[in-house]
Amino acid sequence: MLNLSSIRATTPGCNHHIHFNNAGASLPDQSVLDTVNEYLSTESIVGGYELMAERHESLEKVYHSIAKMINASRNEIALFQSATAAWAGAFNALEFSEGDEILCSEVEYGSNYLNLLRKQKSSGINIRVVPSTPKGCLDVDRLEEMMNPNVKLIAITHVPTNGGLVNPAAEIGKIAKKHNCLYLLDACQSVGQMPIDVKVIGCDFLAVTGRKYLRAPRGTGFLFVSENVIDQMDPTILDLYSANWLSDSKYKLEAGARRFELFENNKALQLGLGKAVENYLELGPNQCYERIKMLAQKLRSGLTNISGLECTDIGEEQCGIITFRKEGIPAEEIKTHLFNKGVYTSVSFPSGTLLDSNKRNLDFLVRASLHYYNSEEEINRLLELLAER
Ligand SMILES: Cc1ncc(COP(=O)(O)O)c(C=O)c1O
Repeated sequence: MLNLSSIRATTPGCNHHIHFNNAGASLPDQSVLDTVNEYLSTESIVGGYELMAERHESLEKVYHSIAKMINASRNEIALFQSATAAWAGAFNALEFSEGDEILCSEVEYGSNYLNLLRKQKSSGINIRVVPSTPKGCLDVDRLEEMMNPNVKLIAITHVPTNGGLVNPAAEIGKIAKKHNCLYLLDACQSVGQMPIDVKVIGCDFLAVTGRKYLRAPRGTGFLFVSENVIDQMDPTILDLYSANWLSDSKYKLEAGARRFELFENNKALQLGLGKAVENYLELGPNQCYERIKMLAQKLRSGLTNISGLECTDIGEEQCGIITFRKEGIPAEEIKTHLFNKGVYTSVSFPSGTLLDSNKRNLDFLVRASLHYYNSEEEINRLLELLAER
């Protein structure tokens, strides 16, 4: 079992307010802060390049920890500054031609969809949206029916920004494999929240951010690229770290996911990401997810007792992101009221998931996203404040 009091004692933000904006950015552990601060201050004395050389092993360990967390190998991991940068890095390194089809989910994240739209404009690809089941998760039977030789990529959001839905990532992976189709999974809200194994899921790419469920510093993220497809990838930006300049007419891309990385990076933040991943592995991804689900279930069932309040979550398996609306009160007003009482939530806006928002007629929603460090008392407090509003 997780030791809640020790986890909260090493999370300084837990003494400051009740944090239910973990799908925005969660509260880091003190050890992550210490790692970042120590590196930054030493760097200012020793020099950036010199410290990078001295700490080579620790910096390498970041890749190994991430690889261990998702069951990949070190050379399949590239560090990025965000999930979108990782997602777009992979997507834009693929070649598409007119008539190619890309399949996505109804809950595709807005930034991903923008990149799909741009590709549609520049290369004449067709975007096709896979319908959901009546319960709201991607319908794998419909996906199977939609597969044809023109489908070049399945790009799916695992857990959307606007609710507790968990899409059936591994079942989708089986279909991608059967049809020999590339599979890009946006795991921005799922890694750090639930156990993720890229071999079980069967994806070729996985895009992740650090600041959400992983509790890493802002400005961190990573991309997993399967070694089976890396040689097909032609990243949009090259520098002398991602490629080698061989002669006046030749260059060679680096082997492995390193071809996606540029030389210049914030090493302190990368170490912070590595530390956050180590902490997560030490706590145990299964235990963390069990606790998050238990807390989410408590909040969802409490919400049903508040009159005029509607929880808008869909899906069969539901995770720690809970969205709701209250009749007659704008989401922003509820969020501000809660904030003034020391309870931090966020507002989910329609364009974050426009396809789903239009389909279900969702306007702005209050989003309470829970982490394993939240307590049952904190959930009671949220319910109490919502009931009196
Ligand atoms: C599902 C999903 N994908 C991608 C992103 C974008 O993440 P980032 O801001 O790290 O690019 C978000 C952010 O909220 C998200 O919820």
